[in-house]
Amino acid sequence: MSRIQTKNGTPISRLGFGAMQFGRTADARSAQEMFEACVAAGINHFDTAYSYNGGASEHMLGQILMGRSDDLIIGTKAPNDRPATADNLRAALDESRKRLGIGAVDIYYLHRFDAETPFEETFGTLAEMQSQGAIRYIGVSNFAAWQIMKAQAVCKVIDTQIDACQPMYNLVKRQVEVEILPVCADQDISVCPFSPLGGGLLTGKYTSGAEGRLQEDKVYATRYGQPW
Ligand SMILES: NC(=O)c1ccc[n+]([C@@H]2O[C@H](COP(=O)([O-])OP(=O)(O)OC[C@H]3O[C@@H](n4cnc5c(N)ncnc54)[C@H](OP(=O)(O)O)[C@@H]3O)[C@@H](O)[C@H]2O)c1
Repeated sequence: MSRIQTKNGTPISRLGFGAMQFGRTADARSAQEMFEACVAAGINHFDTAYSYNGGASEHMLGQILMGRSDDLIIGTKAPNDRPATADNLRAALDESRKRLGIGAVDIYYLHRFDAETPFEETFGTLAEMQSQGAIRYIGVSNFAAWQIMKAQAVCKVIDTQIDACQPMYNLVKRQVEVEILPVCADQDISVCPFSPLGGGLLTGKYTSGAEGRLQEDKVYATRYGQPW
């Protein structure tokens, strides 16, 4: 059971919706339709990132939200192309909140591990943002288990904690079962996995000859396009 709740106290839904295709393969109209279908199905968790489609994903999600977020969990991520320094994080969070049109980001993730910036600076900044009410929960994505534990130790000293972890996890990518899921269970960290359908591979569409990201996107072709 996750500790994560909306601002008005509703528990996070078991399923979440990733808005990574907003502003890429999804235009404003289909994004709106998908959002509404999710809400009608009881999904209250929406995930995006500063870096998705040059900001278009956050912006499009913000247009749909129109400031509404008290009954939703909006997760976004710090930039994945620069170090997680205090200045970079503050500037990026301000930009994300502007694009999303919300005062507080519910889950704010580090998109990737940054070996250059001391954890004390990075997590100290996140804790400060939390105490100022600009973010509600702290998340990490694409972190190894040792990095999660090291970060958690730093968080505990400054009286906060890692609340959420976003690893890649699906039936053909199960590496997280070895160390990451156990560490999250032990530390009471909610797991919000990405690519649950293997980027489309697990829908079966490719066996029936359909086209998709496995042909069109280099990253996905490398991850999921192997003949086996
Ligand atoms: N933290 C990170 O580093 C990271 C990385 C990647 C993703 N994410 C997050 O996780 C979310 C989901 O990632 P993902 O898009 O890789 O995940 P996914 O859920 O594994 O794949 C979604 C894709 O599956 C295909 N699909 C889904 N339902 C289908 C259906 N009924 N029939 C046919 N095809 C269907 C579509 O492929 P086509 O698009 O090919 O049609 C769709 O875009 C993203 O939106 C993002 O929020 C985070």
